[in-house]
Amino acid sequence: MWPCVVSSFSRRLVASLGVCGRRKCCGTAAFMPEAPAFEGVRSRSELRDFSVSDSERFWAAVGNQRLSWISPFHTVQDCDLTQGRIKWFEGGKLNVSVNCLDRHVHTSPDRVALIWERDEQGSEVKYTYRELLEMTCRLGNVLRRRGVKRGDCVTIYMPTCPLAVAAMLACARIGAAHNVVFAGFSADALAERIRDAESNTVITVNQGVRGGKFTELKKTVDEAVQSCPSVQQVLVAMRTDTPVVMTARDVAMEEEMLKEDVVCEPAVMNSEDVLFLLYTSGSTGKPKGIVHTQAGYLLYAALTHRYVFSYHDGDVFGCVADIGWITGHSYTVYGPLANGGTTVLFESTPIYPDPGRYWNTVERLKINQFYGAPTAIRLLLKYGDHWVTKYDRSTLKTLGSVGEPINTEAWEWYHRVVGDGRCPVVDTWWQTETGGICIAPRPSEPDAEIVPGMAMRPFFGIKPVLMDTEGKVLTSNNTSGALCMAQPWPGMARTIRNNHQRFIETYYQPYPGYFFTGDGAYRSAQGYYQITGRLDDVINVSGHRIGTAEIEDVVNQCSAVAESAVIGFSHDIKGEGVYAFVVLKKNIDIKEDDLSRQLNKMVSKKIAKYACPDVIQLANRLPKTRSGKIMRRVLRKVVERDLDGLGDLSTLDDPTAVQEIVEGHNAIL
Ligand code: PRX
Repeated sequence: MWPCVVSSFSRRLVASLGVCGRRKCCGTAAFMPEAPAFEGVRSRSELRDFSVSDSERFWAAVGNQRLSWISPFHTVQDCDLTQGRIKWFEGGKLNVSVNCLDRHVHTSPDRVALIWERDEQGSEVKYTYRELLEMTCRLGNVLRRRGVKRGDCVTIYMPTCPLAVAAMLACARIGAAHNVVFAGFSADALAERIRDAESNTVITVNQGVRGGKFTELKKTVDEAVQSCPSVQQVLVAMRTDTPVVMTARDVAMEEEMLKEDVVCEPAVMNSEDVLFLLYTSGSTGKPKGIVHTQAGYLLYAALTHRYVFSYHDGDVFGCVADIGWITGHSYTVYGPLANGGTTVLFESTPIYPDPGRYWNTVERLKINQFYGAPTAIRLLLKYGDHWVTKYDRSTLKTLGSVGEPINTEAWEWYHRVVGDGRCPVVDTWWQTETGGICIAPRPSEPDAEIVPGMAMRPFFGIKPVLMDTEGKVLTSNNTSGALCMAQPWPGMARTIRNNHQRFIETYYQPYPGYFFTGDGAYRSAQGYYQITGRLDDVINVSGHRIGTAEIEDVVNQCSAVAESAVIGFSHDIKGEGVYAFVVLKKNIDIKEDDLSRQLNKMVSKKIAKYACPDVIQLANRLPKTRSGKIMRRVLRKVVERDLDGLGDLSTLDDPTAVQEIVEGHNAIL
């Protein structure tokens, strides 16, 4: 029977899809469960080749097979990489929340959708698909009744919790876009994102709880909205029992939800309507609002989740990323839910209450796929194997890594100790801009080799190329270059909010006709890809992306500072740490400790704690070219202690500056 919570609209919709909930099943390939069959394609690698050579037919088949459409699309793609124009599945109409909820409620209402692994160990809470749909509908109705319209953008500033997922899906249900801001960002950073997104509504909680510590999220929102004239209302959910001051602008979210119906008519959305914005860092000081749209993003998140991790019905998927990052969007929320999966919402930290937290969670929740960041693996490795081996990890089938390069030692430990040497480790390369995983060892033939620390193989429909410094495609193997994509895929970003020109300049102008990732990569003799790191001034601190220019902007605001240069440096645990070279103003007398305290306070206030400098080196001047550009390359080499690799210094304005920097660096060590 159709559950009562679903509207007559959705009932009609699902009825139109037939029993399996999928329009036009096209037959599946024998070599790969649920993959569409194409004539002459007999293996997974042949399917990958086909997905690139005949990408229209491939994506049309998967689009029809895996998404539930209200109206079918008439055009598979209308993309032109020379113009930065990306459109998929035009003519198609659908609702993302129906795809993530209603169609699964139809077949298995009591299947668990979410397991909320609360910060307090051992207090997990499960939500079925029916319950999540109800929660989403109630919240969708609250938003609608309070004036949020299709096309508006709602900012969500919440920890990883069921109401945050319901908030994302409620936006999708009524056709509003969401803008999730990582709850570790400061009031200033939040305000900047709210203003750029022009949100009229913010959703938050009274307090966050992480690692046993409370964070005053509502207070942070109060501070942020003071400089956000667009905000008319703040919905406040209660994560803890601690009351917070409520103003006329604030709305008690759960109370309002209780007044609402559990049926909420889903908006009929076009494939290319905006689903969400997510701000990320680039090489300039201003974060960019990456825009993803409905159908293409959802399809790509679902397909990669299904095949990279070999996710099967009934599996428990444990992605421990925060929902404030793209990994949380694609692999905690949208991919697993589109596939009718059970997904874990991990609210805590890897070391709370002790360094066994992840594996205790794996044992208790019977997690089958575990997806985490190298920085946490490196940290846990140092605590010793017994924190892992004391827990039963026999449910684990696949281990995933994301966000930064995973070094061989961490990879081996993850494989040997966590996975008992029997689970494939998938090092997945992708970005906020790519929407989902683009390069990963799986899918491939089931027993194909996996090389430690290598993302290896492009996903279906992905055609990576490496470029040399002159912008020519490198055709041979065993070579390194700038990583670009030669073909569009449905999950890729559509634009930067309010700045399509910046979108084109950043991603499509550096190598005309190609999408430029900003990363460098090496292609091995066998044709496998290994990511070598960013080619621009973006660094990756504990898997969190940050532009060095953003940090410099803040450091330069300190009244004692004349100028600064920030670079990333190799850090044992964080992957990259923040190294700041600081030139003080003349006649300033400040103790180094005081300066460090001041700068940390400012960076935490303006950006977030993770962006604070690990090392501050005072300098009399910075090495610059004669035209006044700071030579960061030289600074990086000094910090890497590669003085032979300093390269051409002939453009340096004053060669003695380098010697001073080297001496200053030696004094710090
Ligand atoms: O430099 C790459 C690195 O993270 C960047 C993307 O960061 P963000 O948009 O925050 O998304 C992170 C989660 C997908 C990339 O440009 N990166 C991501 N995954 C890997 C990686 N570097 C090496 N290996 C990876 N597996």
